[in-house]
Amino acid sequence: MEYRKLLVLFCFSWTHFISNVQTSGSNQQPILAEKLLVLTVATQETDGYLRFMQSANYFNYSVMVLGMGEEWRGGDVGRSIGGGQKVRLLKQAMEGLANEEDLVVLSVDSYDLIFAGGPDEILRKFQESNHKVLFSAEGLIWPDKRLQDKYPPVRSGKRYLNSGGVIGYAPYVNKIVEQWNLHDNDDDQLFYTKIYLDHQQRASLNMSLDHKCQIFQNLNGAIDEVLLKFGTERVRVRNTVFDTLPVVVHGNANTKIYLNYLGNYIPNAWNYERGCSVCNHNMVDLSQLEKYPSVLVGVFIQQPTPFLSEFLQRLLTLDYPKDQLKLFIHNNEVYHERHMQKFWEENKDIFSSFKVVGPEENLSQGEARNMGMDLCRQDPSCDYYFSIDADVMLTNKQTLKILMEQNRKIIAPLVTRHGKLWSNFWGALSLDGYYARSEDYIDIVQSKRVGLWNIPYMAHIYLVKGEVLRNELQERNHFVLEKLDPDMALSRHARELTNHREKDSPNPESFHMLRVPKGIFMFITNRHEFGRLISTANFNTSHYNSDLWQIFENPVDWKEKYIHTNYTHIFTENYLEQPCPDVFWFPVFTERACDELVEEMEHFGSWSGGQHQDKRITGGYETVPTDDIHMKQIGYEKEWLHFIREFISPVTLKVFSGYYTKGYAVMNFVVKYTPGRQAYLRPHHDSSTFTINVALNNKGTDFQGGGCRFHRYNCSIESPRKGWSFMHPGRLTHLHEGLPTTNGTRYIAVSFIDP
Ligand SMILES: *[C@@H]1O[C@H](CO)[C@@H](O)[C@H](O)[C@H]1NC(C)=O
Ligand SMILES: *[C@@H]1O[C@H](CO)[C@@H](O)[C@H](O)[C@H]1NC(C)=O
Ligand SMILES: *[C@@H]1O[C@H](CO)[C@@H](O)[C@H](O)[C@H]1NC(C)=O
Ligand SMILES: *[C@@H]1O[C@H](CO)[C@@H](O)[C@H](O)[C@H]1NC(C)=O
Ligand SMILES: *[C@@H]1O[C@H](CO)[C@@H](O)[C@H](O)[C@H]1NC(C)=O
Ligand SMILES: *[C@@H]1O[C@H](CO)[C@@H](O)[C@H](O)[C@H]1NC(C)=O
Ligand SMILES: *[C@@H]1O[C@H](CO)[C@@H](O)[C@H](O)[C@H]1NC(C)=O
Repeated sequence: MEYRKLLVLFCFSWTHFISNVQTSGSNQQPILAEKLLVLTVATQETDGYLRFMQSANYFNYSVMVLGMGEEWRGGDVGRSIGGGQKVRLLKQAMEGLANEEDLVVLSVDSYDLIFAGGPDEILRKFQESNHKVLFSAEGLIWPDKRLQDKYPPVRSGKRYLNSGGVIGYAPYVNKIVEQWNLHDNDDDQLFYTKIYLDHQQRASLNMSLDHKCQIFQNLNGAIDEVLLKFGTERVRVRNTVFDTLPVVVHGNANTKIYLNYLGNYIPNAWNYERGCSVCNHNMVDLSQLEKYPSVLVGVFIQQPTPFLSEFLQRLLTLDYPKDQLKLFIHNNEVYHERHMQKFWEENKDIFSSFKVVGPEENLSQGEARNMGMDLCRQDPSCDYYFSIDADVMLTNKQTLKILMEQNRKIIAPLVTRHGKLWSNFWGALSLDGYYARSEDYIDIVQSKRVGLWNIPYMAHIYLVKGEVLRNELQERNHFVLEKLDPDMALSRHARELTNHREKDSPNPESFHMLRVPKGIFMFITNRHEFGRLISTANFNTSHYNSDLWQIFENPVDWKEKYIHTNYTHIFTENYLEQPCPDVFWFPVFTERACDELVEEMEHFGSWSGGQHQDKRITGGYETVPTDDIHMKQIGYEKEWLHFIREFISPVTLKVFSGYYTKGYAVMNFVVKYTPGRQAYLRPHHDSSTFTINVALNNKGTDFQGGGCRFHRYNCSIESPRKGWSFMHPGRLTHLHEGLPTTNGTRYIAVSFIDP
């Protein structure tokens, strides 16, 4: 037993020793970084190419780019066979390098590939592999599955060749590619595979595959194997199956979106210590421009949308010269026609141009969005297309400028639903193209990771460069694709390849479709706060001022519209008054809140007339009747009680400390005082623990007289302020009366709380 154990141990350390000798000993000097040449084929400077070059430059790789400016003839790589053009170009380039015996050539794709490590590491790993040529490997066989049995078996590791990456000594690589005599749209991977599967060539050219992703990580079929590994300097990808840190990360086949996700981090884009390191790359300084770029703003009102006037006001307050803005509005809703009409009349001359397409045109959402985008595409002076839906509350006036300065082809500001994880982007897509949550989605939405994020889908608001619409996105009709919703259609069009007919083909017979790689990156930025998405669900438009009812669905916007700006100062600066003993006076409603509530009541119109007989209340008799309408009558009781709990209860706690109100009230109503009907109210107590009384209009302009007198203290308040509320005890101490309104009409909102 003892002996055998020792033997195993001995064997183990002996082999270990041998492999050490092979790698670092035995006259193998490390290859110098300048002996590595990266060769890549790129016919266009796509976003993917620029990202590749950025990572190559970061590590100081020497890169030779082949084919730039050539038309792409290599077929639709990733879906069908193709890529022969790459081998042809590589063959040409290698002719001149065939005799460089100590030159190591790394031939890689560029549109969908990122370096995660530097030349020294690649060369060390290449040397350790102890072969003259090393191809990248993958677990899936492509394009000819019948070749499976011809592959040498592997005990552990990936078995099949992928042509997206190969590293080897120049003379050996040359001996491979010089065999190419096929067409540009023939398959490069099949070509390399056949050479590799040939026993004789495999031995004579000393070829192998990088089975365990020491150097090359192909992501197709391997997404579950990789994780981001954050370091203080750099971010890498770790292959968790082989416990390796691959140097070249390749988003082959349909893993481009996942590569984009990885590219948001590796090699140095973002990490925990430094945040975003690439966000300031290629910024434009707008202050250096002679004049601001011209922007077409496309506004889309697709469904009844709360707070539309506030949305439109925010467009007006965008910090951008209005004479450089053209407005296109598609309003699909009859309900909003009166709002649009008003906005148009007031502002038609402010913008450089102003076009509204209304519901009578019966445009589908996709058609309307195509129309808006076309207006920019077809106008050479249109520098940017800024699309915004009516459910985006843009609170940051600088948004347009910030997005422009970021200088990306397509960029969206992050907007989220208040307090929810709902936003205007997706971090990942499921296999069928719908929503999937990326690992970083929540951190981005909650701004725990701040930066510029390459994402597969965006909606609601985005900025697109005009030149992109006239080039990569020159085909029209981007918003209609199969049964996708329009924003999904646009996102997919931007990401994917496009068809271009080869117009000047000498031979009409060979008139064929060319696939031009588009792969435009779409970014979302959360480097600033921009605003929020409002909810259009549960918007009941059958009221006169329907926004009043939005206190539950859109509480932030409700508060902003209806709660007095100085309300919060009650708590921070003791911003309230006590005009009579235990009568507290504080701001609570905006003018809009007061006006809309009065309008709502007048629209309803059934004032009680101030009779003692009152069917609305239990018992049917009111001793001190007012001319009023109950909140319940306009269907506003639930909302009003919520308002009391949210905005009155905290004040109660502040002024009557130790008293916790239940915020319960049966009597909630708006009173109307006017000389011809009821002008005053005789002294009385309220059936409440405390009462609130909010003035809904202005003394002097809307009425004369009015006010309130508290008898016990011989104290009157004769100049009520619009939007301010009184709060006073209801029973016992605060006998009070409503002083006569001598002219005009006075409105107050009253609640008897905790009866
Ligand atoms: C690349 O080269 C520059 C200039 O020589 C050097 O400052 C930098 O550290 C190098 N980067 C790497 C990753 O080696
Ligand atoms: C491949 O080349 C290395 C030296 O670079 C050599 O040690 C090894 O034996 C060769 N392998 C084959 C199968 O020829
Ligand atoms: C509007 O368009 C839809 C579908 O395009 C059609 O079904 C409908 O009849 C049209 N309505 C009017 C009023 O034209
Ligand atoms: C919308 O409001 C009207 C008027 O208050 C009401 O009759 C109707 O039931 C409400 N609709 C919904 C879906 O709540
Ligand atoms: C809020 O309070 C400030 C300071 O007292 C005052 O100047 C301002 O007019 C108030 N705002 C409104 C809307 O009343
Ligand atoms: C009530 O106050 C007024 C002045 O504010 C004063 O003229 C009057 O005498 C007072 N009445 C009583 C009963 O104190
Ligand atoms: C009463 O109000 C009306 C307008 O509301 C105004 O024209 C009139 O002058 C007022 N009368 C008095 C006596 O203030």
